[in-house]
Amino acid sequence: MAWNEVTDEPALRHGPAEGARAARRAPPLRCQSLLSPASFCPHARGMTSDKEARRDALIALSRRHVWPPYTSPERHEEQEPLVISSAEGPWLVDENGRRYLDGISSWWACTLGHRHPRLVRALTDQLARLDHVGAGGITHPAVAQLAGELVKVAPAGLTRVHFSDDGSTAVEVAIKIAFQYWQQTQRPTRRRFIALSAAYHGDTLGAASLAGVTEFFSIFGPLLFEVVRPAAATSWDEVVEEIERLARLHADELAGIVVEPAIQGAGGMRMQPPEVLRRLRAVADEVDTFLIADEVFTGYGRTGTMWGCDQSQVTPDLLCTAKGFTAGVTPMAATLATDRIYDGFRAAPDGSTRALMHGHTFCGHPLGAAVAREVLAIYREESILDGIRVRAELIAAHLAGLQGRPGVRRARALGMVGAVDLGEGGYGGAAGPRFYQAALARGLYLRPLGDSAYLCPPFNIGLAELRLLLEGFSEAIDEALAG
Ligand SMILES: Cc1ncc(COP(=O)(O)O)c(C=O)c1O
Repeated sequence: MAWNEVTDEPALRHGPAEGARAARRAPPLRCQSLLSPASFCPHARGMTSDKEARRDALIALSRRHVWPPYTSPERHEEQEPLVISSAEGPWLVDENGRRYLDGISSWWACTLGHRHPRLVRALTDQLARLDHVGAGGITHPAVAQLAGELVKVAPAGLTRVHFSDDGSTAVEVAIKIAFQYWQQTQRPTRRRFIALSAAYHGDTLGAASLAGVTEFFSIFGPLLFEVVRPAAATSWDEVVEEIERLARLHADELAGIVVEPAIQGAGGMRMQPPEVLRRLRAVADEVDTFLIADEVFTGYGRTGTMWGCDQSQVTPDLLCTAKGFTAGVTPMAATLATDRIYDGFRAAPDGSTRALMHGHTFCGHPLGAAVAREVLAIYREESILDGIRVRAELIAAHLAGLQGRPGVRRARALGMVGAVDLGEGGYGGAAGPRFYQAALARGLYLRPLGDSAYLCPPFNIGLAELRLLLEGFSEAIDEALAG
């Protein structure tokens, strides 16, 4: 099932609406879960006073000194956070041993669950040999071998890998590579990017400039660069037609077209028909600009294929990966490029060098590189993509069953993502926060994007646990809609 409706409603990236004050505190918890209520219901906690005191002390410390993302000081001081002290497989475990099923893979990153034994071993083995070394004039086995292995599984034609730290920097690097390429290959007017409405590419200023989810970044407007963006539309067809028109209109100014292939994640789990990417590839070729695929969310199997681009059999010119790249174990990212682009950084005709003017302290960090290699080994040896197919069918069937339920809008699924909208409230909607609390009460960690409730569990979640998640997802929706 694919959902191809596009609206321009805003959505909250990583949690319930900040403005939904009423939902700051958990509503009365009903404890009607599939699990034993005592295993997760805060009202049935039976905490020892020692544990309670320790938990309260941690929360107090956090409130006093931690500055959390996307959270106002008032909310930080009033909301009751989970205090997660360990995790295993798809489960998060709080200070008191209560377990929560991680239905969103910890901000979409822990694609192989938590503390996969092979990843723990890869990390500790690497640590025993080499912790960190700068990339200036040095390579090391983990990073050289990782680059070789990554290009083997990447869409054909992507042969060069620049390593960085997280999704935002992977995108930042891609746009700097594209920009620098045109500056030094006699096309200096090519300085602008096309990005989609409802796009999200990260929080650094370059990535934020590309974002269509304006609620996050409008305050930084004066610091952001201008982007060519299609107007809000009601169908993907209209979006693509508009991009084709804009690309032709601005052909001489275009450094690239940036897109989240197959699913726009933070913009509200908006799923695209495969034709969208194919047409973007075609128009990028027509005007000779770069297609930049941000696979930070969609890569490594999230959409059912290794890359979101594979849904359309498209090779982009630049591809950004993070999150699932290290299965969330270490912060690390990569930007992949074609030979054509790399060759644009070779010495100029006058002999002057044209190195990429970008680098981080932790470019190609040995610990991350060792983990990322092991992730690929797990994909090869534990048939992760085959396992995704089975689980994706369960998710799609369950979401199809939600279609038509009163109050449920746009039930949709692709690969390891299922989503519904619980209203048109978008960023400020009240149903999302209710859904979050209802899920939590059932031992499920499922942070909605505004009023879009979604699940994207680890790819190797057990089938019984996946069923538990799906049933709890539906129950939480019912409770959220009941008001
Ligand atoms: C498509 C996409 N690009 C980039 C990012 C930014 O990644 P990070 O938060 O690791 O910087 C995200 C994060 O959710 C994302 O979904």
